[in-house]
Amino acid sequence: MALLGAGLEGAGVIVTGAAGGIGEATARALAEAGAQVCALDLPGPALDDLVAALPGRQDHFALPLDLGDTSALDPAVHDAVEHLDRFWGLVHAAAFLQRQSPEEVTEETWDAQLDVNLKATFWLNRAAGELLVARGQGGRIINFTSAAWMTGPMLDSDVYSASKGGVVTMTKGFARRLGAAGITVNAISPGQIETAMQRKQNTPEAMAAVAANCPLGRTGTAAEVAAVAVFLASSHASFVSGATINVSGGLLMY
Ligand SMILES: NC(=O)c1ccc[n+]([C@@H]2O[C@H](COP(=O)([O-])OP(=O)(O)OC[C@H]3O[C@@H](n4cnc5c(N)ncnc54)[C@H](O)[C@@H]3O)[C@@H](O)[C@H]2O)c1
Repeated sequence: MALLGAGLEGAGVIVTGAAGGIGEATARALAEAGAQVCALDLPGPALDDLVAALPGRQDHFALPLDLGDTSALDPAVHDAVEHLDRFWGLVHAAAFLQRQSPEEVTEETWDAQLDVNLKATFWLNRAAGELLVARGQGGRIINFTSAAWMTGPMLDSDVYSASKGGVVTMTKGFARRLGAAGITVNAISPGQIETAMQRKQNTPEAMAAVAANCPLGRTGTAAEVAAVAVFLASSHASFVSGATINVSGGLLMY
């Protein structure tokens, strides 16, 4: 048994943001560890291509969905779980970032970020938690925050950062509620990771400056974050809950 795969053979995991950088790397890593992956993202060829390329089992499947459509979330999670052999967890990596100065923020851009980053986190955690409790075998919920939850907003990310602060608080709440059922709930806090989101409305100079400040002297890769998600999903992390795991190469130290 692969060290990081412990407990993941045959485990059914819903991964959101699966067509994005960290979500895709996590879906791949979970599939390599033997999990059955339900890959959720906006409809499109990127999602279909990812599912077709997943290693391991042959019954991974796509769940094309706009997480901004709150009323669709509960039915979608229930439907996905019916198609998973053994529902074990949720990795919620999807998020939306729109860099704007506070003066530029509109109700529309506020809602677009809060709906996906925070509201969907609540709806997905609640639905996954209920179904895992009903199954009675424990489970895992892994949310994604950002280093900005602690540092505060950088580069006009005030709205996004506020949503990510909420994710940390919400994760602790679900960890308390679900712990008695053997379900752990944690958040991963990536530093600067090389993905489309990091490059969006950013400059190579600004990214180089952050990398220079990082003790490891570089930007992280999606695979390095995915490895932590797989650890949290595995049996090795059975006594880790309510934590915000710092994966920033030392950029942030706590
Ligand atoms: N990359 C970084 O440096 C970094 C830093 C801190 C935190 N994070 C967090 O890590 C997680 C993964 O980020 P990433 O860098 O892989 O981003 P990414 O932009 O590469 O991927 C995000 C994915 O979310 C999906 N998504 C966005 N809106 C959606 C919606 N309405 N419905 C369904 N799917 C939707 C996108 O289609 C995309 O595939 C996010 O929660 C992000 O906030 C990333």
